[in-house]
Amino acid sequence: MTLEEKVRKTLAELGATDAQSVETLFAEVRAAMEAERQDLVSRGATSEAERNQLCKALRDRWLARKSGLVSLIDENWLKKAGKELKPTVGRRFNELREHSAGVEVDALLRAVPVSLEVHVSDPMHRTDSVAAEVSPAVALTDLTLPGYRRPLGSIHPVTRVMREIEDIFLNLGFAIETGPEVESVYYNFDALNIPESHPARDDWDTLYVDAQTVLRTHTSPVQIRAMEKHGAPLYIIIPGKCYRHDNPDSTHSPMFHQIEGLAIDTDITFADLKGTLDFFAKKFFGEKVRTSFHPSFFPFTEPSGEVAISCVFCDGQGCRICKESGWIEVMGCGMVHPEVLRHGGLDPDRYSGWAFGLGVERYAMMKYDINDIQLFYQSDVRFLEQF
Ligand code: PHE
Repeated sequence: MTLEEKVRKTLAELGATDAQSVETLFAEVRAAMEAERQDLVSRGATSEAERNQLCKALRDRWLARKSGLVSLIDENWLKKAGKELKPTVGRRFNELREHSAGVEVDALLRAVPVSLEVHVSDPMHRTDSVAAEVSPAVALTDLTLPGYRRPLGSIHPVTRVMREIEDIFLNLGFAIETGPEVESVYYNFDALNIPESHPARDDWDTLYVDAQTVLRTHTSPVQIRAMEKHGAPLYIIIPGKCYRHDNPDSTHSPMFHQIEGLAIDTDITFADLKGTLDFFAKKFFGEKVRTSFHPSFFPFTEPSGEVAISCVFCDGQGCRICKESGWIEVMGCGMVHPEVLRHGGLDPDRYSGWAFGLGVERYAMMKYDINDIQLFYQSDVRFLEQF
């Protein structure tokens, strides 16, 4: 009896009265479907049109709504199955239906066109003979076809800006230093002259891992680590992730990036700090930019300052972005506090230094006119592919 004949009979008529014989019948159906699919795939087709036609025939035979094999099995086997057999038939039928859904898609994907017409002017490649020599089986594994290519990504804007800043300082002879993101309270605070109970600790909304361990709130702890490791003279920048207990909004994120700068030598003065940072600002934002230094406070620098640049959007005229002031604050800085040098193992009578810290996202936002910091972390390709 052919499969077509079998699916037109009921299970009872076929003598399938127990679960075992039902299983056998379905196994037979599955095998037939698989064989026909395989046959289609390995036979291939010589043209797109022929391939479509073969696929359609296969699909009609199995999936046609009224007279397809799957529908007939539903009609004659499942619907007419006795009570005890129904669960088994139902389960197998569902499997078959799921499996068969892929019958045509699968075939379409795998039955690649076989006509390898080589349209090249090279006389060695005679179109007719090449097409004729390629058997369908060979065509299926045509190794000359290009492979699947993952779409190329691009460099994240934060990484891009970070590298740009790094390059400016590398060109000045600075080296890159890194440190741990999970940091001890000692390096994050104490060694930086921020004792416990000092109100300045509140300036950093800290995420504690345990009583002695934090997610670093800034890259400054690496100042101490680097002094301990390398001694002086020291000219480094420290890029990296920092964490603060901040609610995310358009200008805050619990994770963000900083770049720290540190120069320590025997005769470093505030003039070096001003000169270097002014040079940096002009390199990064453009030669027209002016810098201005304002007094500020950080426990680890004395004196401390904030650097502002003339607004890059309005050229210092005053606009919405600089809040009509003409200036935008871009980093904190200062002369390294003697206590900090001491904690780093350096003699403050012999050495002096300057340091700065800046937020990379803020630079990227200014550079690319981005108004929401959250965009950096959402992995939305429509945003990312613009860079
Ligand atoms: N660590 C400071 C901050 O996170 C920035 C800073 C670094 C200030 C170095 C002065 C010197 O706000």
